[in-house]
Amino acid sequence: MSSPFGLLAELTYACPLHCAYCSNPLDLAAHGDELSTAEWLDVLEQARALGVLQVHFSGGEPLLRRDLPELVRRAAELGLYGNLITSGLGFSRRRAEELIGAGLGHVQISVQSDTAEASDRLAGTRSFERKLAAAALVKELGATLTLNFVLHRHNIDRLTGMLRLAEGLGADRIELANTQYYGWAWRNRTALLPAREQLRAAEDTVRAARGRMSAELVYVLPDYYENYPKPCMGGWASRQLTVAPDGEALPCPAAQTLPLPRTGVREASLSWIWWESAMFRAFRGTGWMPEPCRSCARREVDHGGCRCQAFQLTGDPARTDPVCVLSPDHHLVAEAVATANADPPEELVPRPNPGRRSVHLDRDDAQ
Ligand code: SF4
Ligand code: FES
Repeated sequence: MSSPFGLLAELTYACPLHCAYCSNPLDLAAHGDELSTAEWLDVLEQARALGVLQVHFSGGEPLLRRDLPELVRRAAELGLYGNLITSGLGFSRRRAEELIGAGLGHVQISVQSDTAEASDRLAGTRSFERKLAAAALVKELGATLTLNFVLHRHNIDRLTGMLRLAEGLGADRIELANTQYYGWAWRNRTALLPAREQLRAAEDTVRAARGRMSAELVYVLPDYYENYPKPCMGGWASRQLTVAPDGEALPCPAAQTLPLPRTGVREASLSWIWWESAMFRAFRGTGWMPEPCRSCARREVDHGGCRCQAFQLTGDPARTDPVCVLSPDHHLVAEAVATANADPPEELVPRPNPGRRSVHLDRDDAQ
C-alpha cells in the first residue's frame, strides 16, 4: 500500500456543454454545496502532505470557478504539477495568462470532433472555434497541450480528421479515449458503442499515425471489445484519489455510485480517508477478490478490472468485471457488443445542462 500520486480535484459539476458521453453523476441535486476556496486550499495542502505530486483541476468545467488561479498558484507553491482539464470555454487570454503565470504546466482540452459542425453538434453548444483559440493560447504561452477526443460510434469514423486537427494545433499529446459507460454515458450506451468494423478502421488509422506523428499518441481501446478488463485507476485506491465538488473523497470519479460508506474532507482528514476509510479499503489489494480472479495469474495485472463497471452491470461491485472473458457475467458485455453490431444505431440523448448555482462560479468567463 502506497501514497497516492495524483489528485483529481473536481471543482464543480457545472458545465456549459451537453455531451451525451458525460460520466458525471446523474443526480447532481443530491450533492452538497461546493467546497469553498479555503476548503480547496486545505485539500491541496493535505494532498501534498500525503505524497501527491500531480493535481488535475477538473469538473464539469473548472474554469467556471473564479478562484481557480488561487488554487493553481497554491498547488504550484506546494510543488504540485498542475493540469487543467477543460472544454476550453472560458480560457480567455486574460484567464490563460493568469493561470499559466500562476504555475499551470499542462492544459488538456476536450474536442468532440474535427469540424465545427460535427464538434458543436456533439457538444450541444457552439464551442469548436473557442476550443481552437484556447489550444493556440496554451501553445503561445508555453504550457504543454493535450487534446482529448472521446471516441464513440458518432465520431470515430472522423479519426483521421481529428488527428490532422491536433497536429495542426501543435498538440504535444493526443488522447483518443473510447467512451467509458458511467453517468449519462450509461444511458446512451447502445447509441455510443462503436461497431467492430469502425474499431478496426480506427486501429489502422492510429497505427499509421504513430509512425509519422511527433506528438505522443495515447489510444485507449474500448474494453467491451477486449478479452480482459483494464487495470482501472491502476488498482483500487493505489495511486489516485478524487475529491468531488462537495468534498466527497473517492478512489475514482464514478465510485459515488457504489453502495459503500462515503467520507468527505469536511468530516475527516485526507490521510485518514486514504489509509483507513471503508471506501478506500474495500477493494485494495487482492484479498477481496472472488473466483475466478482469486486464483488467476492476471490478478496483479488488471486487479480484477473496474469495480464501478462490475456494479453497473451486475449490481455487485465485488464481482469480477464482466468485460473479462473468464467472468460468469461476461454475457452481459457480449450481448451489448452483439446489439451494437446488429441493430441500427440509436440517437444520442444530449445531457441537460448540468449547471449548478455556486457562489464560486465565474459566469462571465464561461460565456
Ligand atoms: Fe483479470 Fe479476474 Fe479476469 Fe483474471 S479473472 S483476467 S484477474 S478480471
Ligand atoms: Fe471506478 Fe473503475 S471507474 S473502479
